[in-house]
Amino acid sequence: MKVIETVVAMRGRRRETEGAVGLVPTMGYLHEGHVSLVRRAREENAVVVVSIFVNPTQFGPREDFKSYPRDTKRDLALLEPLTDVVFMPSAADMYPEKYDTWVEVGGITERLEGAARPGHFRGVATVVAKLFNIVRPARAYFGQKDAQQLAVIRKMVADLNMDLQIIACPTVREPDGLAMSSRNTYLNAEQRRAAAVLYRSLTLARELWQQGENDAGTIRHEMTDLIGREPLADIDYISIGEVNTLKELHRIRTPALVSLAVKIGRVRLIDNVVLE
Ligand code: PAF
Repeated sequence: MKVIETVVAMRGRRRETEGAVGLVPTMGYLHEGHVSLVRRAREENAVVVVSIFVNPTQFGPREDFKSYPRDTKRDLALLEPLTDVVFMPSAADMYPEKYDTWVEVGGITERLEGAARPGHFRGVATVVAKLFNIVRPARAYFGQKDAQQLAVIRKMVADLNMDLQIIACPTVREPDGLAMSSRNTYLNAEQRRAAAVLYRSLTLARELWQQGENDAGTIRHEMTDLIGREPLADIDYISIGEVNTLKELHRIRTPALVSLAVKIGRVRLIDNVVLE
């Protein structure tokens, strides 16, 4: 496994590479969810590149860029058996002085996470476009957990005629259903217990729909009620939307995305399930 720390060196390595390249973009502090993406990339490509870059432009001024968990040594040890190249550029290399080009995906970035985190998806789309240009992958792998991010990247790839395949991989969960996330590390023991309410509410939504309920308002109401019984949980949003546009549905037409953001103490968690 080779660790490459500059854009110039990554481009050089890419020029010498033959066969399909699979890219797994990450911000590090890897967990089993990331590893499942890398495994899938390994199965489907001749060469696997994992990027580790905590992208400053996708964090708001009051967000956790500085405190975002980092552990490069552990990340590299996890990647060693599965990865050919780890690309770990510096922020100064990715965004040199006077950098001023941005990728703005319209429409779907205005809702949900985009509404709660202004500028977030501009930062995500920009860095992902840059990574695609530097690594030139045949396939790139993203977790279904960040469903809106996935929809934004798919839209960018379609609108800008980017020549690669976007592969969505299932959310990996802890035994109590909590979706794996680097931010789970912020939860104390009591909050960690409470955080399982997100997946319980999504499971309830799926069960109600399987029993024939297709009124989105009723399902949202039942989820709100269940989460409301957890004193540490504070709902930011619950959405039942069309899977590509994320536009809210009144009557559920499948596939539909049930997604939510809930604060447990000061930690904001997101999760989703697809009804199909
Ligand atoms: O999902 C993430 O970890 C990040 O948003 C990504 C896609 C690596 C871009 O910085």
